[in-house]
Amino acid sequence: MIEIRHLYKRYGRFLALNDFSLNVGNGELFGFVGSNGAGKTTTMRICVGLLRADGGEVLIDGQNMLRDHRALADKVGYVPDYFGVYKSLTASEYLHFFASAYGIYGKEADSLTDELLDLVNLTTKKNTDVNGLSRGMKQRLCLARGLVHNPDILFLDEPASGLDPKARYELKEILKNLSAMGKTIIISSHILPELAEMCTSVGIIDKGHLVLQGSIEEIHRAAAMSSPLNLTVSEEQIDDVFNILKENPFVQKVTAQGSILKIVFTGTKEDESAMLNNLITSNIRVNSFYREEGSLESLFMQIVTGRNNK
Ligand SMILES: Nc1ncnc2c1ncn2[C@@H]1O[C@H](COP(=O)(O)OP(=O)(O)O)[C@@H](O)[C@H]1O
Ligand SMILES: [Mg+2]
Repeated sequence: MIEIRHLYKRYGRFLALNDFSLNVGNGELFGFVGSNGAGKTTTMRICVGLLRADGGEVLIDGQNMLRDHRALADKVGYVPDYFGVYKSLTASEYLHFFASAYGIYGKEADSLTDELLDLVNLTTKKNTDVNGLSRGMKQRLCLARGLVHNPDILFLDEPASGLDPKARYELKEILKNLSAMGKTIIISSHILPELAEMCTSVGIIDKGHLVLQGSIEEIHRAAAMSSPLNLTVSEEQIDDVFNILKENPFVQKVTAQGSILKIVFTGTKEDESAMLNNLITSNIRVNSFYREEGSLESLFMQIVTGRNNK
């Protein structure tokens, strides 16, 4: 279990992380979502020991890691959102280089490199120059590099950005395999639906603060609840309906499109039934009443833009 507690990070006077807390259970494939500038990279770099926090703690299996960088480096792997330039190294040489950084040489390094190349589907590119690899292949090589020391937890910063659908699919399959091997994987993106397809749970960061966290089922449910209720009544009763809805504390906003009213509603299913019942007992002829299918994208936008207006 990784527990991030009350992290703060300033860049000059700018507060990039503002009391950021998050728990990720062992073996999870966790999606870390936020708009550009929300603080994802900052959080990840602190968690892997590349950046100092101004306050807060990171615990792995109960042990405070920010004071023990060596222990932290053993536990975590990091795949940054950029790929460094390495002149004239083959994929195999590239991994040997990183293996040597962990004191792995000779036959051990050879077999580790083969194993990792196999894991990321690059065996056929073993002797290909790194600069000659496609973007998706470079990304996978970077992933292999992050696994050289066999960490329990792997952080990947926006690995899917800029990949074509095929490369993205391949990446997803590899991450699922790693997850099945028992690794904890934390993967960031600025696109919620992209992560929802493969993650077990998701956390949303906005302005350096965690605003929503849940299992993928919970996030889908929240998305469904975030979409408006559609109510169709006869046009001559619209004013009456507006007057009734105005009194309902769960009705945030009503807009009319012809005889269809779109209601932003924050109550529960029971509150929804009570509202419908109230309309009917007030002699409103309700022609239809249903909730639009909620999309993850609209949920994400609602959370982020809702907070921007505050
Ligand atoms: N080295 C830095 N110096 C100053 N500001 C920075 C630096 N790194 C990041 N920031 C700012 O901190 C905020 C969070 O950045 P970052 O963690 O990179 O967000 P994300 O990865 O979610 O896009 C942004 O507003 C960014 O401009
Ligand atoms: Mg980033």
